[in-house]
Amino acid sequence: MTELTTCALRLATVKDAKVLANMSRHYIEQGLDWRWRPEALARQINDPETVVLVAEIRLGERRFLGGFAAMNYRMEDATLALLAVHPRLRRKGIARRLVKWLHKTATTAGCEKIALQVRARNHPARAFYRGLGYRETCYLPRYYDGTEAAYQMEVLFTRQ
Ligand SMILES: CC(C)(COP(=O)(O)OP(=O)(O)OC[C@H]1O[C@@H](n2cnc3c(N)ncnc32)[C@H](O)[C@@H]1OP(=O)(O)O)[C@@H](O)C(=O)NCCC(=O)NCCS
Repeated sequence: MTELTTCALRLATVKDAKVLANMSRHYIEQGLDWRWRPEALARQINDPETVVLVAEIRLGERRFLGGFAAMNYRMEDATLALLAVHPRLRRKGIARRLVKWLHKTATTAGCEKIALQVRARNHPARAFYRGLGYRETCYLPRYYDGTEAAYQMEVLFTRQ
């Protein structure tokens, strides 16, 4: 029988915290202090002002997490705090689906701006965000661990 692969988005649960923390460590925070440990991810998952969204890959009977994103919501703006996709699953549109889902919830909640910080040398991620309408608004020298530069990127939404 042919195994079907699907990718479903769902909200993270605390049981996912360890896997997501490891994804953050290896794919987002490599070379930096490990800030997003399992306890920190669990706090984000339980935080009422944060949405942690996961991309669950279903391969036949197997299920595993292929990517995730976390967004913090405030009154009129939001911050995209974390985003990662497993290296073997990249360029399949998974991050785009995750972020577009979060954009929709942010605009529905009345947010007019989403901001994020990204390492200056992370050219793939900067290209990804530019493709979704983000603009680099500020250069932040020594932003990460007092050593590595970042860009602030923002996308604006107009109220309908
Ligand atoms: C950045 C990242 C999340 C993108 O995930 P992804 O699932 O591969 O992205 P998508 O497949 O949805 O890409 C959508 C579009 O973004 C752009 N893009 C994505 N990766 C790119 C790359 N490596 N180089 C140039 N453009 C890229 C392309 O326009 C792409 O569309 P296309 O494949 O049709 O050309 C992924 O590379 C990743 O996890 N990187 C490590 C963690 C990280 O950098 N996180 C963000 C900073 S916190």
